[in-house]
Amino acid sequence: MEIEREIEARRERIDAVIERYLPDAEENPYFEKKLREAMRYSVAAGGKRLRPMLMEACFELFGGRGESMHPFMAAIEMIHTYSLVHDDLPAMDNDLYRRGKKTTHAVYGEAMGILAGDGLLNFAYETVAEAMAEQAADRDCLNRMVRAFGVLSSFAGIRGMVGGQSVDVESESLPPSAMTEDKLDYIYEAKPGALIQASMMIGAILAGACEESVGRMQAAGRCLGKAFQIRDDILDVTGNPELLGKPVGSDEKNNKATFVTLRGVEQASSAVESLSQDAVRILDGLGREDTFLRGLFLYLTDREH
Ligand code: IPE
Ligand code: IPE
Ligand code: MG
Ligand code: MG
Ligand code: MG
Repeated sequence: MEIEREIEARRERIDAVIERYLPDAEENPYFEKKLREAMRYSVAAGGKRLRPMLMEACFELFGGRGESMHPFMAAIEMIHTYSLVHDDLPAMDNDLYRRGKKTTHAVYGEAMGILAGDGLLNFAYETVAEAMAEQAADRDCLNRMVRAFGVLSSFAGIRGMVGGQSVDVESESLPPSAMTEDKLDYIYEAKPGALIQASMMIGAILAGACEESVGRMQAAGRCLGKAFQIRDDILDVTGNPELLGKPVGSDEKNNKATFVTLRGVEQASSAVESLSQDAVRILDGLGREDTFLRGLFLYLTDREH
């Protein structure tokens, strides 16, 4: 399938970009060698690289040229990976496999798992800050980067991913009946949705898109993020752990109320379908020539990993 080949080719290119920005493990003597190793382990384990892929595709959609988004692509993947490293910790979902390999804490111990996550989060901002300092002479480019930095930090934080994870974790200790539509909506919008929205917005911002277009990318990202998490919840019930590279049944084990536990797999699948169509409609509404994003949105609807 054409789209699969394109996704794979992009993923390989993105891997090379990320590799360029990861902390060096060899440069020694460093006492924190183990930490660097653990940080590299979690990122290098793989992953679909969906967020940098969305960022790059949105950058292209708005006519962006050059490599100014590369540090942001690496940074968002570092933040996403840290969120997964922490998500897998014994205090959270307590999972032992991720991206087809043992989780970071399973290999390096719990304390190093926490620190590898902390390290990745900080390194993401160091990466972007350094790139901004290099652009200090180009006011336009710097202004766009400052805006993008604001989006990255706020959508990763308490109003975004971390906020969503906190409500998700809190609700595990409550009976399923305590889960309201509003709360579930908030969790889905924030937990996975915030970084997906941020990726799309940052791609647009760095390409110089206007405020209104950035808002539309956020709206598309909101739909796509929800669809993405609902598909993740479905795969947690019906998926193949070999393909997924992570265990199934994690939500049930953790007493998680998800769209699937509340509505069942069938309704969940139709929600993924209609949310993805909403995202496509918003994209089409921009009237821009797009060679990839639409196909990616549709491909994600019935992804198996
Ligand atoms: C997993 O994200 C966590 C969710 C938001 C559901 P991905 O499915 O994008 O994980 P990787 O990056 O491919 O491992
Ligand atoms: C976590 O959601 C998403 C994050 C923001 C880290 P899940 O707990 O459902 O993710 P998986 O299924 O472990 O990848
Ligand atoms: Mg979780
Ligand atoms: Mg999890
Ligand atoms: Mg999940």
